[in-house]
Amino acid sequence: QQPDPPRIDADAWFDGVDLRELAARYPTPFYAYSANAIRTRIRGLQQALAGLNYAICYAVKANSNLAVLQLMAAEGVGADIVSSGELWRSLHAGIPAQRIVFSGVGKTEQEMAEALAAGIQRFNVESADELEALERLASSLHVTAHAAVRINPDVDALTHAKISTGKAENKFGVSIAEARRWFARAGSMHHVKLDGLHVHIGSQMLSVAPIREALARVAAFWRELEAAGHALNSIDVGGGLGVRYRYGHDEPVTPEAYASAIRDHLGAFKGRILLEPGRYLVGEAGVLLTRVVRIKQGDTHRFVVLDAAMNDLLRPSLYDAWHDIVPLVPRPGPSQACDIVGPVCETGDTFARGRMLPPLEAGDLVMIRTSGAYGSSMSSTYNSRPLVAELLLDEGRHAIVRRRQTFEDMIAGEQPARWETV
Ligand code: LLP
Repeated sequence: QQPDPPRIDADAWFDGVDLRELAARYPTPFYAYSANAIRTRIRGLQQALAGLNYAICYAVKANSNLAVLQLMAAEGVGADIVSSGELWRSLHAGIPAQRIVFSGVGKTEQEMAEALAAGIQRFNVESADELEALERLASSLHVTAHAAVRINPDVDALTHAKISTGKAENKFGVSIAEARRWFARAGSMHHVKLDGLHVHIGSQMLSVAPIREALARVAAFWRELEAAGHALNSIDVGGGLGVRYRYGHDEPVTPEAYASAIRDHLGAFKGRILLEPGRYLVGEAGVLLTRVVRIKQGDTHRFVVLDAAMNDLLRPSLYDAWHDIVPLVPRPGPSQACDIVGPVCETGDTFARGRMLPPLEAGDLVMIRTSGAYGSSMSSTYNSRPLVAELLLDEGRHAIVRRRQTFEDMIAGEQPARWETV
């Protein structure tokens, strides 16, 4: 049973707030996030994991709004970061450095130095070159870095190719054979303590089988390392839990099934189990509210043109991702197949093709569901469309947690050319 976020019922109430009233007050498009939906997810996961020695490090990339990070901090959740910018945001939001882990194949030396100086918990290291750089930097800063090897277990996550990360041909992690060599010469590093394993095979996984498969491989390697005398401090199981994009159709892995996979494979592990969920905590907690600009009846297709576009929510364009699209004030009448598009000058600016929707007219309010993860965090100002506002809802109250960009905000930093020579 999924811990259900507060439902968006037929009357369009979300976390005690009437979305229609909200849209009457603030111009669309904007994102609305339910604080209670996020808390429900955190607590559901915590409950399922009870008894294990674990820590949740929220994958900041899913939704990096400061207020969302502050909510994580208040719940005792740490952060999984992939850049200096995410480090800065997380610290700024009050997430202690000791609860922060750093992932990614392209950490620059500058970024690693900043994270070392901040005193983060550990680095998830993805290449021999990165490991050497970390040793060098930690030595020059006179600190000890804790590191985990990101294992690429060569497991198919059974998800979209663009968000699959655990196959040998993907850029992520290293093979168990390579990791074995790293541990064999770990003693020669004086400033990196190689004492962890990390695995993340992909995102939006709707089946527990690949998760079990990856955990089994990592667990076998942990036992092998332990037998060889290498003490491990942590095993990081990554993120990847899927959510419902198509309500009534998608059946994500429950926190209980996920926790029992972890227990089955890592229950005997004495160190700490780290988790890096992103989408699972925030995805269903967010909606994008948008209005119909106009209906355009083409020769072959009926287009519903929204005031939101691919720059606001990229997932449908980039991954052909399905998002439920729901009119908030449905009109009576038969449903019709529509292409739901944005105003941006690209054919790819399409939220759905041939979607059956009840009659819609210009000005009608529509919500695009499950937009809390990889929505605003992947948005841009393409077509010079300022970034939209983000609102946090909490039991009948709402707060603007990001105001809509002004045109001045949008061009901040741009300036006329003042020529120089190097
Ligand atoms: N840990 C690592 C090392 C990751 O690379 C990711 C996501 C996560 C944790 C969190 O995964 P999650 O629990 O959110 O599935 N933009 C894509 C998703 C990209 C995911 C990238 N890595 C989308 O909109 O579907």
